[in-house]
Amino acid sequence: MGSACTMTMPMDHADTSMSCGQSTPVTSLQAPQTAPSVKQFTLTTRVVKLNIGAGKTVDAWTYNGTAPGPTLRVRQGDLVVVKLVNTLPEGVTIHWHGVRVPNVADGVAGITQNAVKPGQSYTYRFLATDPGTYWYHSHEQSDEQVARGLFGMLIVDPAQPTERDDVDAQIILHDWESLGGGITINTTQQVSRVSAQAGEWVRLRLLNTRNHPLGITLVGVPFTVSALDGHDLNKPQPLQKILLPIGGGQRFDVHFQMPKDGMVRLVVTDEQGEVLQAPAALIGPDGASSPASPASLPLNWFDFSRYGEPRVDEITPQSHFDQQTQMVLGRQLGFFNGQFLMTYTINGQTMPHISPITVSSGQLIKIRIVDESGDPHPIHIHGHTFTVLSRNGHPLTGSPVHLDTILVQPHESYEVAFRADNPGLWMDHCHNLNHAAHGMSMMIAYPNISTPFSMGSDSGNMPE
Ligand code: C2O
Ligand code: CU
Repeated sequence: MGSACTMTMPMDHADTSMSCGQSTPVTSLQAPQTAPSVKQFTLTTRVVKLNIGAGKTVDAWTYNGTAPGPTLRVRQGDLVVVKLVNTLPEGVTIHWHGVRVPNVADGVAGITQNAVKPGQSYTYRFLATDPGTYWYHSHEQSDEQVARGLFGMLIVDPAQPTERDDVDAQIILHDWESLGGGITINTTQQVSRVSAQAGEWVRLRLLNTRNHPLGITLVGVPFTVSALDGHDLNKPQPLQKILLPIGGGQRFDVHFQMPKDGMVRLVVTDEQGEVLQAPAALIGPDGASSPASPASLPLNWFDFSRYGEPRVDEITPQSHFDQQTQMVLGRQLGFFNGQFLMTYTINGQTMPHISPITVSSGQLIKIRIVDESGDPHPIHIHGHTFTVLSRNGHPLTGSPVHLDTILVQPHESYEVAFRADNPGLWMDHCHNLNHAAHGMSMMIAYPNISTPFSMGSDSGNMPE
C-alpha cells in the first residue's frame, strides 16, 4: 500500500494543494445522474436582518432568508439534488454533515470544489442512503460562516414507512455570540413552543451548531435517546434527570410520550451542567402552564457506552483491522498563519502539516483518539460513519453506537473504526470550528485520488 499522498506547501502565502497519485480526480466521484425518485431543492444565500427574540436583531447570512435554513426532508433512496445560488459578498459552499455523499458533493472549498463565488451557483447531487437526522452548513470559512447563520437540518425518512411519531420537531441550538446575540433554539433566544397533546408520541431532533458542547435534559417526563447522529440505538432505556452532552455538530433524537397533563420543559445547560435561563423549549398543549425551570440539576451525564442493549454489529473490537492509527489532540501556543496564538494540534502538528491517514478501499481502519489538551473536542470524520469500540479502554456494554462526530472530553480516549468504502479526499477535524480554524484539521485520503482545487488566499478557498 504505502502513502502516495502529498501536501504541497509553498513557503510563502501561496496556496496549499493536496494530491494522492494522479489517476482519479475528485470531480469524477459523483452520484448517478438520475434515480427512480429525485428530490430537488434550491438554496439561495442571502443577508437578512434576523429577529432572534428579546428585541434582538442580527445581520445573519442565510440559506433562503432564514437561520436555521429550511429543513430538507427526503426519503431513503432518493437522489437529492440541491442547487446553491450565492448572493452573498463572499464565497460559500454546502457540506452535508454526516451524509455519506460522493466526494464531489462534500462541499469542502479547496478539496472537492471551489468556493461558490458571489453571483455563481453549484449543484450538489447525492443518494440519501442512511435514514436519520443530519444537517448542512457552509464549509468555506466555516468558523465564521456557520456562526453567521449558514446552516440547516436534513432529515432522511426510512424507505419503509415505520410507525410515525405524532409530533416530530427539530430543536436546533445556535450561538449568535459573534453577532452580539445569545443562544437560540430554532428561531428564538427566549422560549420555543412545540405543540403536543396528552398521550402523543414526540420525537425531538436535537442539533448543536455551536463551538462548545451543551447539556440538554427534559423535565416532566422520562425519555429515551433513540438515535445518535441519525443512527438508531438498540433498546434504549428510559432516562430521567440525565443531562445529554451534545458536542458541536452532533445530533441526538429523543423520544417520549406526553404525560396525561402538564407540559414538558427542555432545559439547556452549559458544558459544566449549569442551567442557562435561556433559551428553553416548552412541549405541550398550547396555553398550558409549564413546570418551572429547575435552579440546578443533578450532574448526571449521559454515557452512551453503557446505554441500550448489545446487538450483532458489523464492526466489533474483535474485528480484524487492516490499519490502526492515532489522533492525539493537543494545544500549544505557536505561530499560525503568521500570528502567535493558541493552536490546536493533532499528533503535535497543525493543518496542513498533519500527515493524512491513507486508507485503501475495503480496509477496516481503527483510530484511537485521545485528548491531551484538557479541552473538549467533537471530532468529525467526513464521508463515513464510524463505530465506537471503546471509551477510556472499556468496550461498549450497551447498544452499538455509530457516529460521524464524537465528543472527546478532556483527557478521554476512544477507539473508533470504519470501513473505507467511499473513495475520496475527506476531512477529519474538530467541530469546535474555531479549533479547526486554528489547526485541528486533517485529511483521510484514498490513494490515487487527486484534486484540481487548492486552498489559500490566492484561490479564496479557506474551508475552515
Ligand atoms: Cu460539519 Cu467538516 O463539518
Ligand atoms: Cu476542538
